[in-house]
Amino acid sequence: MSVSFRYTNSILVEIYIDMRNEFIILSILAAVALGLLGFFVSTTWWWVLLLASPVILLALYDAFQTKHAILRNFPILGRSRYLAEWLRPKLYQYFIESDTDGKPFSRIDRNIIYQRAKKELDTTPFGTQLNIYDEGYEWMEHSIAALDHHDIEPNPRVTVGGKDCLQPYKASLFNVSAMSFGSLSKNAVMALNGGASIGKFAHNTGEGGISKYHDKHNGDLIYQIGTGYFGCRAKDGNFSPELFKQRTAKANVKMIEIKLSQGAKPGHGGILPAKKVTQEIAEIRNIEAGKDVLSPPYHKAFKTPMELVHFIKQCRDLSGGKPIGFKLCIGQKVEFVALCKAMVETGIRPDFIAIDGAEGGTGAAPVEFSNSVGMPYREALSFAYNALIGFGIKKEIKLIAAGKIVSGFDIFRAISLGADFTYSARAMMMAVGCIQALECNSNTCPTGVATQNEELMKGLVVEDKKHRVANYHKETIKSFIELMAAAGIDDPDQINRRHMHRRISSVNSRCYDKLYPYITEGSLLQKESIPRDWREMMAMATSASFRPKFEQVYIEED
Ligand SMILES: Cc1cc2nc3c(=O)[nH]c(=O)nc-3n(C[C@H](O)[C@H](O)[C@H](O)COP(=O)(O)O)c2cc1C
Repeated sequence: MSVSFRYTNSILVEIYIDMRNEFIILSILAAVALGLLGFFVSTTWWWVLLLASPVILLALYDAFQTKHAILRNFPILGRSRYLAEWLRPKLYQYFIESDTDGKPFSRIDRNIIYQRAKKELDTTPFGTQLNIYDEGYEWMEHSIAALDHHDIEPNPRVTVGGKDCLQPYKASLFNVSAMSFGSLSKNAVMALNGGASIGKFAHNTGEGGISKYHDKHNGDLIYQIGTGYFGCRAKDGNFSPELFKQRTAKANVKMIEIKLSQGAKPGHGGILPAKKVTQEIAEIRNIEAGKDVLSPPYHKAFKTPMELVHFIKQCRDLSGGKPIGFKLCIGQKVEFVALCKAMVETGIRPDFIAIDGAEGGTGAAPVEFSNSVGMPYREALSFAYNALIGFGIKKEIKLIAAGKIVSGFDIFRAISLGADFTYSARAMMMAVGCIQALECNSNTCPTGVATQNEELMKGLVVEDKKHRVANYHKETIKSFIELMAAAGIDDPDQINRRHMHRRISSVNSRCYDKLYPYITEGSLLQKESIPRDWREMMAMATSASFRPKFEQVYIEED
């Protein structure tokens, strides 16, 4: 075996071990030697050869395959790298990760969810583990005139439904965000829906349609339609009004959400490969079994802001007047302004808008999209709230926030920025047993939550986990109510940006109303009152197109 040491002028020492040829020669020699020993000495050596032959064959396979350089150079030994990579996140999570640095959810967050779901002790000893002088640390104001939380309505509801809605829905402050059957197992879907039914909150179907697992426990549903229109998809892949009418007539469908985009992969479509289109999935989604299905990154039912608001009206009429809204991760602010203009010009309003932050989760997404596309929810939510206030239409439209909402404090913060209520996806997954193994995209989820493997999903017992979902919801709302009481507030409507603070350096902090300034109600309706920051966007936005009118922008100096 040749070993060469090459010293560089830095402290770096490169060790290069050329094992490949030696391994091939040794493997062949070992096989021949064992064969000869068996022939001349004892047949026992043939047994040894039999036992050793898988290892020898594997070594030869590694050495001659052309795909993996490490295996070609270090046959067999190179495989330890795959083992180490597989073990790394597990060892990290259990032995190395601190309480505050787990990603995307810290151990502190995960523990809150597990303890509340199991109704275990959820208090903490000895004080905070957060470094409260770190930039980005946030806190809320309490009051000397705090209230007794027992005197506050324990489960506040928000009525969703504007002037054209005939069947308003009273939503909880905390609901299950969109996750389809297909990305989640049937057991996970049933447990989430069972929890929603016990706790009287809503369960969003995700864009994969309504399955029998969504119906089993009769929990309230928000039926989501994406660009694939699953469940209400005509044969040519377009939106089918007849099928939509049938689906939304179901009594458990309380609201309908048109998905424009999601935070983890905004602007990215998807393809469901033929092998995943089983008979069951095909029936739920109204597609043909065994064939690839495309979800384009854009909707075919509308192309402009004007067409979108008319589509909202069409959906509301077809559903018998149920609340209709849309979900998006904000990209270009001007597009949202264009949508508001279309609402003002037509008088048609969505009943709700869900703002998903770029920090949101997914079953699978390209890493560039997850890491670098879309606006985080705090900026997006405060902007969307301001736009609706500026156009004077906020009172008719409820805002839902999503983006790593786990605790009562997270709900308080979202409401302070302008949300009326919230969604949670991954925290709800953890309530049904997810351990953040980060395997949602490989069908190997060890807890049976995000997999279609029947054996793995047997680990998730619906009858037990549905109570955990309900417990987690109940305890989180309770903690939110206690925070409101500490702030001297008895109604979520009284929460505003003045209640929240963020540290912007080790010696300075800012109140949220300075970081996310409010806008005057109705100020975007007259040219003279448009705030300076909004003038460019207002000039560029048109209800006739999502594309801004760059050529018409002329901003007068103050
Ligand atoms: C497994 C999984 C599947 C999802 N599927 C959908 C979907 O079908 N439609 C959608 O709009 N969002 C989907 N999302 C995004 C969530 O609904 C939510 O907007 C996002 O994860 C932010 O919430 P969170 O931070 O509480 O997870 C999915 C998320 C996860 C984790």
